[in-house]
Amino acid sequence: MFDVISNEVLAPNLHQLVVRAPRIASSRLPGQFVIVRAEAGEERIPLTIGDADAAAGTITLFVQAIGASTQRIVAVPAGGRLRDVAGPLGLPTHIRNWGRVACIGGGVGTAVLFPLAKALAEAGNEVTTIIGGRSARYIILADELGALSRELLVTTEDGSLGVQGFVTQPLEGLVADPARRPGAVFAVGPVPMMRAVAELTRPHGIETVVSLNPIMIDGTGMCGGCRVLVGGEAKFACVDGPEFDGHLVDFDNLADRLATYRESEASHVCRVAG
Ligand code: NAD
Ligand code: FES
Repeated sequence: MFDVISNEVLAPNLHQLVVRAPRIASSRLPGQFVIVRAEAGEERIPLTIGDADAAAGTITLFVQAIGASTQRIVAVPAGGRLRDVAGPLGLPTHIRNWGRVACIGGGVGTAVLFPLAKALAEAGNEVTTIIGGRSARYIILADELGALSRELLVTTEDGSLGVQGFVTQPLEGLVADPARRPGAVFAVGPVPMMRAVAELTRPHGIETVVSLNPIMIDGTGMCGGCRVLVGGEAKFACVDGPEFDGHLVDFDNLADRLATYRESEASHVCRVAG
């Protein structure tokens, strides 16, 4: 059992949980994830380790409550316990100094971006961060990312904060300007966003890393649930990823696989809600 130290609402349906997990906190590397169950017998939910404090023995998780199992995880209050937290899993982010990098976070994907941006800044990169959401209420971690970035740009679809539009709007200007062009781009968010980022950087030959979130079950390369196509080859996101070359990912295949259980999940949530 794993103690929940705190549970805060960051944005609509998005919670930040600090969980006591000393062994994971001392061994995890940026980009790795854990698989969590609130109770025995429930769906296994992969969650990126947003941050860790080895001295306190805690990890920070960002949980978007979109299905029955994630709703049960965010319902565990401070002082409560989670049944399983398994990890760290997945390959760590390949971190090096490119000089200038751009980190792009769409909506709740910004939470997954945070540990990458932090590690890239600590490796000496000059980080430009672009984060976007539907409206100001969906913008998360702006202060934390602003503190480690040379430049932080915010977009909202309704114009309630920052530039009105998608995250790709400021990125377009950045990649077109040789004086500001990044050596590498890291993008985390909805599939259409990661695809759009990869298409923007492709003509400029900018290395582009995307973090994929297919459905996962065991998280150890055994079940095949997280299979993605990268450069025409089948890869398992849980052991070969979750980060891949955005110019090689088959985003249509990923979108199809993510849609597989959408209807049954929606009807399950309706049944649970009564
Ligand atoms: P959202 O749909 O509100 O989009 C957030 C932002 O992404 C938008 O404001 C926009 O700036 C950008 N965006 C969206 N579509 C775009 C497009 N076609 N072109 C350019 N930019 C675009 O996102 P949300 O509801 O916060 O996030 C939910 C989605 O994120 C789910 O699909 C979930 O699976 C995915 N997600 C992915 C990861 C990951 O690791 N890749 C992690 C968490 C969530
Ligand atoms: Fe089973 Fe990746 S989750 S192979």
